[in-house]
Amino acid sequence: MKNIFLIGLPSSGKTTLGKQLARHVRYRFVDTDVLIVKEEGMPIPDIFAQKGEAYFREAEARILRAIRPDSKLVIATGGGMPCFHDNMDYIKANGLSVFLDVSPEQIVERILRHSTDDRPLYQKNDGQLLNNLREKYESRLGFYSQADFTLHGDNIHIRQLLDTIQ
Ligand code: S3P
Repeated sequence: MKNIFLIGLPSSGKTTLGKQLARHVRYRFVDTDVLIVKEEGMPIPDIFAQKGEAYFREAEARILRAIRPDSKLVIATGGGMPCFHDNMDYIKANGLSVFLDVSPEQIVERILRHSTDDRPLYQKNDGQLLNNLREKYESRLGFYSQADFTLHGDNIHIRQLLDTIQ
């Protein structure tokens, strides 16, 4: 089986489901944000603040291209990754892709329930949070919907994910 890429907005469940999925299919789990933080030696908000978003997007594209088709990885991608630098084409060429289609409304609920300190684009104190996510959703849907599979809903279960890809 090929690599499995999980894509979608922040807090759509990519990391949680990705870890469960990796255990089930006996793949390694990686989170591209974590790889970038390691490589850069600083948290994502600092990368955005000190080096800018364009720099972050370059790093993202580079990390993605280090993944080979037979790496046997479950990959939780950063929310914006599929939408820059032809990354979606690379994702499609190097694995199965699953879009976790969770509504902006439900995501706001999730974000407000958990800390958002590591998510510079979606700060908890941002009154525009829902608008911001809706905008992102609208502008990114064209990329996300190119995924091989789409799972809808606010409470996607690992069983659904396994049934979808197997
Ligand atoms: C981003 C999402 C974040 C991270 C960065 C930018 C985005 O990843 O890559 O803060 O543009 O949506 P998560 O989706 O894992 O939160």
